[in-house]
Amino acid sequence: MADALFPKTHKYRTIHSMSDYRVGALMDLVGEGVPLFVDYGCHLGHVSFEVALRERTELVLSVDNFRGTEGDELMAGTVRDLAGDGGDFLFRFLENLNEMRPQLFGLIIPMRAEFFWEIAAPALRGEVDIACIDSSHRPEDDWEFAKLSELVRPGGVFCGDDYTNGHSPNVADRVDEVAADPQYSWIHQDSFFALRKASA
Ligand SMILES: C[S@@+](CC[C@H](N)C(=O)[O-])C[C@H]1O[C@@H](n2cnc3c(N)ncnc32)[C@H](O)[C@@H]1O
Repeated sequence: MADALFPKTHKYRTIHSMSDYRVGALMDLVGEGVPLFVDYGCHLGHVSFEVALRERTELVLSVDNFRGTEGDELMAGTVRDLAGDGGDFLFRFLENLNEMRPQLFGLIIPMRAEFFWEIAAPALRGEVDIACIDSSHRPEDDWEFAKLSELVRPGGVFCGDDYTNGHSPNVADRVDEVAADPQYSWIHQDSFFALRKASA
């Protein structure tokens, strides 16, 4: 049964979360862990937790605005359920992390997207082993794809969700633009996408 594939982290998903198939494709890339993983659009944390449970993971940056996707009514309902009318669910992420395994505090660093872009990203260019994106999908935010791909180290992977979902065609367009960079080559191309950056 699909839900049994990631039993420790499955409860930290919502209807917006990556499916077992996509998490499985991602974990095939992660293997026993990667030193630096960026979970961009971390939501309630299941992907970050799954990666951090691997032996060789050293740091997971779990990035989100923790307020939901602007203009997405379905997600607004989810956020209300999670966080009430305050609409900020960072505390739910922290509660989940504490429940999952308190020892992972420090290895997993939750970070608001605005701070990530302002403070962390400039220091991370070419340093990230795997950057996985599953965030807003709005055309207004789709600059995030190119910017995130710039953080990937030579030999590292840029990947994410919803490449072939009809409801977010701009995701496919932005990913195709990154893939057109000769430094990148496809390693997975369906609803989950993954591109490997050439080694230096
Ligand atoms: C589809 S959900 C992610 C699901 C998550 N990857 C999972 O598998 O559980 C999209 C997430 O992106 C966040 N988000 C929306 N706009 C964002 C933005 N511009 N920057 C960062 N995160 C954003 C939302 O708050 C939401 O948690």
